[in-house]
Amino acid sequence: MANDSQVMDKLVSLCKRRGYIFQSSEIYGGVGSVWDYGPLGVELQRNVKEAWWRAMVHERDDIEGLDAGILMHPRVWEASGHVAGFTDPLVDCKACKARFRADQLEESSCPRKPSVHPGEFHDCQLTEPRLFNLMFKTFMGPVEDQAAIVYLRPETAQGIYVNYLNVLNSSRQRIPFGIAQIGKAFRNEITPGNFIFRTREFEQMEMQFFVKPGSDEEWFERWRAWRLEWHQALGLAPARLRLHQHGPEELAHYAKAAFDIQYEFPFGWQEIEGVHNRTDFDLGRHQQYSGKKLEYFDQAANERYLPYIVETSAGADRVTLTLMVDAYREEQVEGETRVVLGFHPAIAPIKAGVFPLVKKDGMPELATELYHALKRRLPVFYDDSGAIGRRYRRMDEAGTPFCITVDGDTVSARTVTVRHRDSMSQDRVGLDQVEAYLRERLEV
Ligand code: GAP
Repeated sequence: MANDSQVMDKLVSLCKRRGYIFQSSEIYGGVGSVWDYGPLGVELQRNVKEAWWRAMVHERDDIEGLDAGILMHPRVWEASGHVAGFTDPLVDCKACKARFRADQLEESSCPRKPSVHPGEFHDCQLTEPRLFNLMFKTFMGPVEDQAAIVYLRPETAQGIYVNYLNVLNSSRQRIPFGIAQIGKAFRNEITPGNFIFRTREFEQMEMQFFVKPGSDEEWFERWRAWRLEWHQALGLAPARLRLHQHGPEELAHYAKAAFDIQYEFPFGWQEIEGVHNRTDFDLGRHQQYSGKKLEYFDQAANERYLPYIVETSAGADRVTLTLMVDAYREEQVEGETRVVLGFHPAIAPIKAGVFPLVKKDGMPELATELYHALKRRLPVFYDDSGAIGRRYRRMDEAGTPFCITVDGDTVSARTVTVRHRDSMSQDRVGLDQVEAYLRERLEV
């Protein structure tokens, strides 16, 4: 088994080799902390987002979906507190020109002498910390002046807050109810890194749940538990998941209470999702800055109030990375190393490989027919090149849970073998039962 420090390097190389993830603009030398998803990566990430959407929107009666714009009115970010407060303390080294987060010097290395922290090498010349806003700015319209500044959203949540009355009035919801959204967010991170863990462009899967003040703590506890269960249902090892409660110094400016759902990565325990009790901070601020009333009228109780918000906020890229790290393993099989991505079948990019055992005796024809019949309904992959063992290994490395082989018995008895990625055991299944057999095993 690869040790922890090697796992990330091996995963990055597997991701490139098998078409999961590529560095952005690679032919130009790459661009800092932006990554592109290749054919398998895009399928994996779509499966993550679809599992989230199903759990949060389709399976619930009390959550509606939304897809708001990335560019918003600049006042949104004043109201939200991001213009004034979405900052990290930054220090520069005048000697090597590198930049560090002042609050993370202990976790950083000096570029000139990586065995010591920045500031500890005799040549280091660190500046005093200064605050650096993480929002990307651009201009709307042809004139590039102060009045035309707009921001790329650093979180998707604000698009939900400014639409909360639109959704409430156009749906049949009453409080408590939620709005869910998946979309891109952008942060000019000072210290991005660890592959797709911390990037400057990423996707969030956020849900804002609007509740009556006083019931917020109860809902906060429920959502914390449900979200942890969701990660476990995707197949993540329970022992590598934990909840971390924010202390007063960690709480974001909008939160009364917060928990991180953390995963134990090769580089330590890190947040993959946040669950926040945002109180009425956001709606209160938008009401104040927009001058529009955002109160909810509870007809049954004949009372008006500004709802409290419980937020669940996960990064799609971070969950994807977590699933890959958790799934990666190496095993010794018959004197050879077998690399496996042991994904839950529900999120695996390819559900099954379809192979003719040999390229003769009617097997390719039957295998092609089966492949085309399955492909209309499931992502499957046809492979007839090389020894069958090699084909299995290629599918193991791509995380494909099943391999279907058409052999001599298929021709005579219309049955195939279905080989299981994890146990490597094989079942014999009727040709006309293959789709049902796979479907039964693909659900979360
Ligand atoms: N709306 C609340 C919010 O954005 P956050 O804790 O800053 O809260 C939520 O971010 C989630 O978004 C994180 O748990 C993480 O999964 C993801 N995320 C945040 N910054 C990220 C980055 N630079 N790269 C990748 N994912 C990021």
